[in-house]
Order: sequence, then structure tokens, then C-alpha cells
Amino acid sequence: MATTQETIQAPVRETTPLAFDVKRLREDFPILKQKVHGKPLIYLDNAATSQKPAQVIEAILRFYTHDCSNVHRGVHLLSERATETYEGTRTKIQRFLNASDSREIVFVRGTTEGINLVAQTYGRQNFKLGDEVVITGMEHHSNIVPWQIICAEKGAFLHVVPINDRGELMLEEFEKLLNVRTRLVAVAHVSNALGTINPVRRIVEMAHARGVPVLVDGAQAVPHMKVDVQELGCDFYAFSGHKVFGPTGIGALYGKAELLEAMPPFQGGGDMISSVTFEKTIYNVIPYKFEAGTPNIADVYGLGAALDYVGRIGLANIASYEHALLSYATEAIQQIPGVRIIGTAREKAGVISFVLEGVHAHDVGTVLDREGIAVRTGHHCAQPVMDRFGVPATVRASLAFYNTKQEINALAAGIQRVKALFG
Ligand SMILES: Cc1ncc(COP(=O)(O)O)c(C=O)c1O
Repeated sequence: MATTQETIQAPVRETTPLAFDVKRLREDFPILKQKVHGKPLIYLDNAATSQKPAQVIEAILRFYTHDCSNVHRGVHLLSERATETYEGTRTKIQRFLNASDSREIVFVRGTTEGINLVAQTYGRQNFKLGDEVVITGMEHHSNIVPWQIICAEKGAFLHVVPINDRGELMLEEFEKLLNVRTRLVAVAHVSNALGTINPVRRIVEMAHARGVPVLVDGAQAVPHMKVDVQELGCDFYAFSGHKVFGPTGIGALYGKAELLEAMPPFQGGGDMISSVTFEKTIYNVIPYKFEAGTPNIADVYGLGAALDYVGRIGLANIASYEHALLSYATEAIQQIPGVRIIGTAREKAGVISFVLEGVHAHDVGTVLDREGIAVRTGHHCAQPVMDRFGVPATVRASLAFYNTKQEINALAAGIQRVKALFG
């Protein structure tokens, strides 16, 4: 079977993204029409959060103006409608990730909460003194700190797979870290700081060969490529709605049914129970066991609309277009004297992290902002990556399918302007 990377690359090699009508798609995003400091907004901070199409905004509005009610509890029509959309979105996520069962989809606030859920339930139940958890040197803090917390509590150890100078995982080192004490591997599908696409399927095979489950942080993967959790073979997969053109405050955790069933609840409260007495509480079935309290129903509406929207464009088309745009941007930026790109992996998604000789990243970001260009500067919640490359911070331009070559040209011109100002 093809690896995920091959699956992503296939359309890029075989098709030219000519039919991709960016101009038309941009019309769906009201925010992109605005001016910033008198210049047209050029939004290149998509890895932090992506912009929302009108369809998503309208879906949230529809909930509050038409369906507003609580889910699972009412016999009245509004509650039925809300429950239908809520559970319908769960099924959309199941299809989006190609999970085999909608019971394997748990609504969470986002990737961070999904990872913490696994650490605090699976980790608390299964880790013990002397056990080991393996993460990688390119993780977002969200896929480091939850493991540090539970490891400290249990007396377990965290091991880190090193990365090479291109920003790729050193798989031979990963292999050496796996042993009889390894209880879990947690890895980013795509690095937010470097753009590296990790060979998750291979990682899962290596871990599973030793009976070790794998959690994948999919925050930066789902907006850019088709994800198939069954093909990847991973045990858990977490993502955030706001990175995939949906609202903030909503995301999903995929977990294999047999694992979710064996795990204790994350939080206690309404909806996660099937019966309560003062003597004994019986928990609800999955996935409700993990969804205590009134959920973020309005944003579930929005997330459902976002997945429909992305589905209509097609993730293969998005991947293909962005791959071409990333090549164009890399070429344009790396030829500017004084620029050093951090993260030059052979398999990359739409992130260009760079430093400019003699100018602090923050100053680059500030000057670009005056040009209407939104980029992120700093450590991108991945301080160990900055340490690995010996830089305090980078400038990060991160792409979405609504970005254009003209915007990349403006970015390159903006960097030249920074050089002129600080040179
Ligand atoms: C790779 C990665 N993991 C996890 C997260 C955390 O996502 P959230 O803040 O939406 O929970 C991010 C956010 O930037 C990320 O890029």
C-alpha cells in the first residue's frame, strides 16, 4: 500500500493545478477583502489559524438564529435539529478522516485538548514507574507538555527522536528508542515550525511491530492533505477545526474504538453518564463518555460546514495547488541574499520558516505588517526546534489554498524592503 507521503505526492506529480480557481475561491472569504495599514491584506499566518469562508460563518449564524438549543436532551424540534447537525458533523468527521465508525470521533476543543485527553486517560491508566513515552524533536508544545505532566506524575520518562539538518526525523534513531518499556509514541503529522511531513505510516509500522500505540498530532496536516487514519494505522489522531477553515474552540480526537472503550473518562458531568446515584455512576458509551457537559454546538455547526467546503474543493486539489505555491515561494525567498530557510525537508507542507541575517524576526514581521502582510514571528510554540537550529525565533509564512503567487511576490518585495531599512 502507498505511504501517506506517496498519497500526497501523487496528484502533484501527475496533474498541473490549472483548474484551481483561486480568484473565485477567495470570494468566499469576507476577511480577505479588507485593507491593513491601507494595503490589501495578505494573510500568510495560516498555520496559526486559517480564515473562514462565508459558508462557515453562516452555519454558526444558523445555529443561533434558527436552531439554538441543547443537544441530546430535548424532545422539542429545535433540540432535534441541533442534535441532528451535531451528530451529522460527527459522521462528516468520520468520513473526513476515514475512520471506520463514528463512535471513534470525540468532539474536543482542539488538538491541545485531544492530546491532553489521551495523556490524562490512556496515559494515567497505562503508564507506570520506569515506562517510556517517545515524542520527536519537532513537536509543538501541545505534544510535549501533556506528556511531561503525566510522565512526572507516573515516574515515566520522555524520549525524543532527533531531527537532521533538513528538519527530518532520524528514523534509525527512532528505532533505537523503541523498547519493552515504551508505552506510547506521539508524533506530529506535519511540523508547524518546519513544514516537514513525517512518514507517519512507517512510524506506526515500526511502533506497532513492538506493540506500541501511536498518537498523531494532525493540527497542521488536515488543512493540506487527505488524511486516512485507517491507512496510517494510527491509534489516535487529533486536529483543530480552526486550522481547517472552521471555527475556534472545536476539534476532534479520533481513537480506535477498543482503546476508547477501555479508557476512563476525561471529565465528569452531564451527558457522559448513563446513570448516577450517590453510590455509583455508570458511564455512557463512547464517544459520549468523553463529552462531559454542554458541548460547543454552534462551532460544531461551523466545523461541519468547513469540512463540506473543503470536501467540495477536494483535498487532492488543495495539496496539488499548495505544493506548486510552496515551490514558487521557496524559490522566491531563498534567493534573497541573507535569508536562511529553516526546514528544508524533502516532504513539506505549506510552511516557510526563515531568518534574515542581521535582523530580528520580530522586526521583519513588523515591517511586513506595515505592508499589509501577516506572518508569524517567534518560536511558534516549538522552542526545542529553535534550539535545534540555533535561532531564537523565525519568521514563518504559512500558506493556504487562497494564497496566490502575487502575494508571494509581495512577500519577497517586503523582505527586500526590510533589508533596505535595516541593511
Ligand atoms: C502541530 C501543532 N500541534 C498542536 C497545535 C495546537 O493546536 P490548538 O491550539 O488548536 O489546540 C498546533 C497549533 O498551532 C500545531 O501547529
